[in-house]
Amino acid sequence: MTGKFKRTTITSALPYANGPVHIGHLAGVYVPADIYARYLRLRGEDVIFVGGSDEHGVPVTIRARKEGITTQQVVDRYHNLIKESFERFGISFDVYSRTTSDTHHKVASDFFRKLFDEGKLVEQTSEQFYDEQTGHFLTDRNIKGECPRCHNTDAYGDQCEKCGATLSPEELINPYNAETGNPLVRRATKHWYLPLDQAQPWLEEWILNEHKEWRPNVYGQCKSWLDGGLKPRAVTRDLEWGIPVPLEGAEGKVLYVWFDAPIGYISNTVELCQQHPELGNWETWWKDPETRLVHFIGKDNIVFHCIVFPTMLKMHGDYILPDNVPANEFLNLEGNKISTSKNYAVWLNEYLDELPDRQDELRYVLTANAPETKDNDFTWADFQARCNNELVAVYGNFVNRALQLTQKYYDGQVPPCGSLNDFDRETLNEFDGIKSRLENLLDNFKFRDAQKEAMNLARIGNKYIADSEPWKVIKTDPERVKTIINISLQLTANLAIAFEPFLPFSSRRLREMLQMDTFNWEQLGSTTLLPAGKQLGKPSLLFSKIEDDVIAAQTKKLEDTLKANMEAEYKVEAVKENIAFDDFLKLDIRVGTVLECERVPKMKKLLKFLIDDGMQKRTIVSGIAQWYEPEQLKGKQVLFVANLAPREFKNGLVSEGMILSATNWDGSAIVTTTLSNVKPGSQIS
Ligand code: 2FM
Ligand code: ZN
Repeated sequence: MTGKFKRTTITSALPYANGPVHIGHLAGVYVPADIYARYLRLRGEDVIFVGGSDEHGVPVTIRARKEGITTQQVVDRYHNLIKESFERFGISFDVYSRTTSDTHHKVASDFFRKLFDEGKLVEQTSEQFYDEQTGHFLTDRNIKGECPRCHNTDAYGDQCEKCGATLSPEELINPYNAETGNPLVRRATKHWYLPLDQAQPWLEEWILNEHKEWRPNVYGQCKSWLDGGLKPRAVTRDLEWGIPVPLEGAEGKVLYVWFDAPIGYISNTVELCQQHPELGNWETWWKDPETRLVHFIGKDNIVFHCIVFPTMLKMHGDYILPDNVPANEFLNLEGNKISTSKNYAVWLNEYLDELPDRQDELRYVLTANAPETKDNDFTWADFQARCNNELVAVYGNFVNRALQLTQKYYDGQVPPCGSLNDFDRETLNEFDGIKSRLENLLDNFKFRDAQKEAMNLARIGNKYIADSEPWKVIKTDPERVKTIINISLQLTANLAIAFEPFLPFSSRRLREMLQMDTFNWEQLGSTTLLPAGKQLGKPSLLFSKIEDDVIAAQTKKLEDTLKANMEAEYKVEAVKENIAFDDFLKLDIRVGTVLECERVPKMKKLLKFLIDDGMQKRTIVSGIAQWYEPEQLKGKQVLFVANLAPREFKNGLVSEGMILSATNWDGSAIVTTTLSNVKPGSQIS
């Protein structure tokens, strides 16, 4: 390890135990954290990788009420599911515990108590919304009411989703409990605040001056918080679920989830060191200035890890502060936001069941599309393309060729390397700098580029073996083939090392095939990893193709969820303002028979109708081509507005009226008709 540090404590955000983890969590936090932990271990460094479930907070209680089970049952279920999924996915935590553990309750309670005893917290009474019927204070998100701007009666205490206004609960007209519908009153309540305002000067110095190397998104968010001026933040809440505030007279109050959750990193380290005395005292990992602390998180957690938690640590005293917080942006899914509450995600546990033994494929694609600098999108089509065109066609293909040829020509023994020609030297030169290039990228948390670099090595190998054509040369110059295969095998061994942090499952299988019992990062770049004469194991394919039906099934699953959500969320539009009867009479709606119906060239949305309106034939153009084939409508009777002024389209086409359709919940148009056939031209009244 370079610089002033001797060891590293890596933490990854504790996921809420209110649902399984999904690919957004993986791409944002757990895959990069795991790559980093594996990389440091491979370099032989002292490192711990700390994880765990975040089991307090409102989301778990909401889930419990929705499912009609206890909160403890919810967190038990999801903690176990998440823990098991991470294990199956190869996230190499040294500890994965939970914030409902006794250790954590004690550590978090003591932490609060020390800040309180030393007078570091500020006590303040304020008015909060209270439901007299249930006897509960409510959090902003649990409060609904009428938006003061657009008068939507379903606005949340923090935001109106209809007009987008940012709100505070006091602004709502007639606030009510979002779950019960009960009206709310304001009631005074006492809480304890972390005086972030007092921390502002040193935070500014520490972040803005001393950590200019943090990612621009992290640095930028911190700067904007600091520029806005920090205010004290309540670290307690009026709730039943959580860690009780350890003070007399604080019954019914718990520590705010964002106060206790990051302390979970510390509690989990305590548990880890109890189970593994060889790791020494937990305090070494949290208090020794020679320990480097790195938090892996998503962008929504930046303020808590860069401002709130460091303030807590500093006020408590003795603790080190994070050296870096490589936060990622968000991953979208097929162009839509991933959502736990809307069940729109690729859930890790389901992926592992439905695409068995394909952990590395997902790891590869998530890193290739890692949202390191901006939000990114996961699509199943891209997943398939990357697996088939890169993992199978490049990496897997190269390794397979090198191993199969060794088997075929040399009974699986590494042949000796003879004299090198220019192409050999060129190839070896190209992977000469791989170690330092990878280190430079990984040390700077550029995992996406680092994986690209490793894949590039496989590309070099693939090109080398394809261009050297050992299967042809064997007939004319068998000595030369020994060199080609030797070089290919050395490249293969390098790939096994380079890919280990990224693709640990295939890397292990490759090492088994190469009989590499021991390996380490220092060997990377060596051209003599496999000595001549070494007997290799039996080759098997490293990756296999992802078939179209697998992708189609996954895509359909997501589309079904989107549809179900749209249907569930569909709200009937409010009725428009009343109109006078005379105004209604101005409308001339009639029945017509569709004589002809066809698509309009270059206008994808339009269908052109020829209608028998009882007197003559008229042309009507309608934007419903997405929903109907022309043949479906031919011969049908439709309702149309007969006295609408003619409208001309861009291409000169004129529509003489409007066919009436109902807009369904999913946006589709359903053409209206009569219950039985009537004479064309009949008026609707
Ligand atoms: O955003 C979240 O999912 C939180 N549960 C992360 C907590 S990170 C840490 F503080 F524990
Ligand atoms: Zn509004």
